[in-house]
Amino acid sequence: MLPGMKVVRTVHDMQTVAADLKRSGQRIALVPTMGALHEGHASLMRKAREQEVRLVVSIYVNPTQFGPHEDFKQYPRDLEADTRVCQREGVDVLFAPADDEMYPGGALTTWVHETKLETRFEGERRPGHFRGVCTVIAKLFNIVQPDIAVFGKKDYQQWKIIEHLARNLCYPVEILSAPVVREPDGLAMSSRNQLLTAAERAQATVLWKGLNVARDLFNGGERSPHRLEAAIQRTVSLAPVARLDYAAIADAETLEPVHEAQHGNVALLAAYIGSTRLIDNAIL
Ligand code: PAJ
Repeated sequence: MLPGMKVVRTVHDMQTVAADLKRSGQRIALVPTMGALHEGHASLMRKAREQEVRLVVSIYVNPTQFGPHEDFKQYPRDLEADTRVCQREGVDVLFAPADDEMYPGGALTTWVHETKLETRFEGERRPGHFRGVCTVIAKLFNIVQPDIAVFGKKDYQQWKIIEHLARNLCYPVEILSAPVVREPDGLAMSSRNQLLTAAERAQATVLWKGLNVARDLFNGGERSPHRLEAAIQRTVSLAPVARLDYAAIADAETLEPVHEAQHGNVALLAAYIGSTRLIDNAIL
């Protein structure tokens, strides 16, 4: 391929580019995103770049993973700035399809992917969310034909579900993961942070603080998931703009609740900061 980044807007063109890369013996890495790119996304691109690959980044605000009362309309979109980030990170192909490309005629063949992993946390609070995520990821895997795909641990449950999706449906793709990238004050980077007012942004640090309080208690010997969760709840409630949706200690692989907290468990939480819903997690 010629130097410089290709911007591809149609499924057909993306399939042609992918087929050309495969024919010339190149391995493809995919980093799927919804855009409004930040350092968290860039870290996934760099992780992919560590491999001998051509790097494809997709930018698509996937309507099927948003509930009817969620922030699909408000979700930040800035393809120009995103294009610059991709160029800076040495992306080979930026795939930015429109809705009628990904869901032609609006006709949906949704991907029903039922595992226990989806029944809790985000899956419980956002009915249909993971079906939308799995549908779009299956489509992207079919279009881009990646050998490697990189996901962030920021969306911990999503990462685990996609690992299962790839394995259960025999996609010949290796799923890699990258650690949560945080702002200097600990807030996990997220495209949705742009939606926060200055006051909300300042108070949003209670999420990370809550996780750290739980971790400190755990390190001090506390093993009751209930007391660890209550400590997160108390910390989050210190911020007037914050409302905890859930906090839980779970097995890091199965996401099953645990009766006694152990090293390697994951503490997961979701909270509204004003009207913006944010998630975060940390390993105990
Ligand atoms: P999006 O929220 O744009 O995230 C794209 C990828 O970046 C995901 O794998 C996510 O976990 C990762 N990411 C986001 N913030 C991060 C951070 N602070 N540190 C590390 N990684 C981070 O997740 C989605 O989009 C969508 O659901 C998608 C998978 C693209 C399907 O539509």
